[in-house]
Amino acid sequence: MSNLSRLLKESWTLVEEQQDKLASYFYARMFLNNPQLRDLFPVQMDVQRSRLLGAIVTAVQTVDDPDVFAEYLQSLGRDHRKFHVQPEHYDAVGGALMEALRTFAGDEWTVEFDQAWRDAYAVIAAKMIAGAEADSTNPPYWHAEVLYHERRSQDIAVLTCRPLQPLEYRAGQYISVECKYQPRLWRVYSAANAPRKDGSIDFHVRALGAGWVSSALVRRVQPGDMIRLGAPMGSMVMDRRSTRDIVCVAGGTGLAPIKALIEEMTRANRTRWVHVFFGARDRDDLYDLACLNRLAARYPWLSVVAATSDDPEFPGEHGKISDVVAGYGPWNDHDFFVSGSPQMVRSTLRTLAEMQVPAIRIKYDAFGDS
Ligand SMILES: Cc1cc2nc3c(=O)[nH]c(=O)nc-3n(C[C@H](O)[C@H](O)[C@H](O)COP(=O)(O)OP(=O)(O)OC[C@H]3O[C@@H](n4cnc5c(N)ncnc54)[C@H](O)[C@@H]3O)c2cc1C
Ligand code: HEM
Repeated sequence: MSNLSRLLKESWTLVEEQQDKLASYFYARMFLNNPQLRDLFPVQMDVQRSRLLGAIVTAVQTVDDPDVFAEYLQSLGRDHRKFHVQPEHYDAVGGALMEALRTFAGDEWTVEFDQAWRDAYAVIAAKMIAGAEADSTNPPYWHAEVLYHERRSQDIAVLTCRPLQPLEYRAGQYISVECKYQPRLWRVYSAANAPRKDGSIDFHVRALGAGWVSSALVRRVQPGDMIRLGAPMGSMVMDRRSTRDIVCVAGGTGLAPIKALIEEMTRANRTRWVHVFFGARDRDDLYDLACLNRLAARYPWLSVVAATSDDPEFPGEHGKISDVVAGYGPWNDHDFFVSGSPQMVRSTLRTLAEMQVPAIRIKYDAFGDS
């Protein structure tokens, strides 16, 4: 661990237990000193759910590995154009962060700690600003019209929208979405199709109980509504040079990016076997199995195994999808794509590690903090 990293971690322990208060203070300072920034944030500011402070702290703590995060920070900066963030805002946010840290750490805060946080923040901010600048030929966000909206189960909807301007992305990537029912609240959803000539994009959305954006997308959005889309992000894309066979593991709407990857394969693949494992609680949540089965009937290289964890009558596999995948192994020489809830992704990664699958062959997206 570098000296910088050690200083950052050590100093964070001084405030860690007061995170909620620190967050309230941070936002209060930021908005008091820069009232114009308030309009960039969601209308209802819920400090516990607000993402900015937690994200900055995580980014600062990982500053030791700048190469790994360079690409992520660049695309995060690009993505921040959707919030109307300008380069000068970084100083305002950094200033509020430093004030909050100093206030809550009290007497134990040292000059070294102060310098370490300022240095780390500056590195990250510079990468994000560069990412935003490099993207200046694209719009900060895309307006898109909802063309279709289909409820596939109690909680799941598949919706198709078409951006008014071309939005380039790769199969497997995700895109921020905002709708008029929850203004300025953006959440990411994976594109569920490979790029099409008409530019339309499908999303598979599950409404989480009290979830603000997902509930609106499933229960309120209708054809004809306009939604906004941010710049695509994510690196769970196909390595087109690899010749290895592929295993895809999807839990619930984690199928979305997997479906996009399969669709990409249908355009080019002749030689790679693709095994898809699709798991859900019950058969209702296997909302797109019929379509997967049609694809498997059409493409001899594609096989689909579906499993339910809480539906004993389901005519297929039963149990956790990670266990089902293990039962079909060994998978010694395969590329893996894993997508779903954080718990599902965690248990699949654990299983794959136990099966000695090298981590470098696994790409994954967890739909939340993993
Ligand atoms: C890379 C990535 C790709 C994603 N792709 C997709 C996708 O294709 N499809 C998709 O449906 N989602 C996807 N998600 C998840 C999505 O971004 C949102 O996090 C999700 O829709 C919840 O947003 P929300 O505004 O409705 O919930 P929020 O208001 O943000 O609340 C969510 C929080 O509330 C809690 N919560 C509330 N209700 C429940 C509940 N019933 N069960 C569990 N926790 C609950 C959780 O702690 C969670 O942290 C993806 C996430 C990531 C990171
Ligand atoms: C080191 C600098 C920063 C980092 C690492 C960072 C990171 C993040 C991340 C990861 C998110 C959540 C992802 C998302 O919703 O798209 C987020 C949200 C946000 N960021 Fe930043 N950000 C930084 C600086 C800024 C600055 C300078 C502004 C301008 C005021 C800003 C404004 C916002 C807003 C408005 C949100 C949404 C908040 C919410 O929905 O609660 N960020 N940030």
